[in-house]
Amino acid sequence: MEKIILDCDPGHDDAIAILLAAANPAINLLGITTVSGNHNVDNTTRNALSTCTAYGIKVPVAKGSHGPIVAEQVLAIEIHGETGLDGPELPPASFDLDKRHAVDFIIDTVMEHEAKTVTLVPVGPWTNIALAIRKEPRIVERVKRVVGMGGAYTRGNITPTAEFNIYADAEAADVVFRANWDVTMVGLDLTQTQALATPDLQDRVRAIGGSISTFILDIWAFIATTHGGLLQIAYPAIHDAVCVAALIDPTILTTEKADIRVETSGRWTRGMTVCNFEKMGGMRHFGGTAAEQVDFRHSVAMTLDHPRFCDMIVDAVERLTRLKNSS
Ligand code: RIB
Ligand code: CA
Repeated sequence: MEKIILDCDPGHDDAIAILLAAANPAINLLGITTVSGNHNVDNTTRNALSTCTAYGIKVPVAKGSHGPIVAEQVLAIEIHGETGLDGPELPPASFDLDKRHAVDFIIDTVMEHEAKTVTLVPVGPWTNIALAIRKEPRIVERVKRVVGMGGAYTRGNITPTAEFNIYADAEAADVVFRANWDVTMVGLDLTQTQALATPDLQDRVRAIGGSISTFILDIWAFIATTHGGLLQIAYPAIHDAVCVAALIDPTILTTEKADIRVETSGRWTRGMTVCNFEKMGGMRHFGGTAAEQVDFRHSVAMTLDHPRFCDMIVDAVERLTRLKNSS
């Protein structure tokens, strides 16, 4: 089983990441940590608790950072609505928050578990992860790996060059990519073109019936209006769930090794993830650095096996529905 901490800003696609992480037997969801991003951290935390309650699950949920480390706060209310999770009915939380701050929850959990067994999965702005590194640098050597939703090697969604999670806290993402661990970047190039809630997937979820099916369909019904309108994406993009799917079955993705740098000061390019792919021979004059300073330790997600991705989501709804009906 893959032990993970899911750091998120629910968020419609974050809720599907929670679904997969909670339901699939290949994942041991050690906890959920929240961050501001799609909405303020009060709302993303409430949404995380409501989502767990709607799914009938109980896992530690720890509230995190109220905003980015340096930048002015940017929220995505225009995409996710006034609650941050508009569409589904949000039940009141059936359990209390973990009393620790998300950063302390991450540090405690990583330091308590055997080294190289816990994977961090940031799918909102990467603020909590960066702060955890600064507060306890030893987590970098103890974490198994980082699989995060963020970035893009072609084009952005909040600016022409930047993806929202990275743009919202570029300094935090810079800290995370520069730390001495392996990051798998699941970026927009894959998620907004391949990880889509197609009509066939929605029909399969609808056929399951029950409250969880309705919750998921209401999520997709709302986000289709903003992804389809503002972002002109054909069907709802289930960005964040791809990270969890990749931990359930790593063969669901193809990846390429790259040296990834985050632009933090460009007037037009702040938040851009500049990817120098090893396959392209690795641009040696990358930002003026000498060849030996280029390090291709990170990976960039390139393709997704969409049929298997859909099967995972349908399986997760079926599993949690059976569990909820039997409780
Ligand atoms: O750019 C997409 C990312 O921003 C996703 O994680 C979505 O939930 C929002 O946080
Ligand atoms: Ca998110």
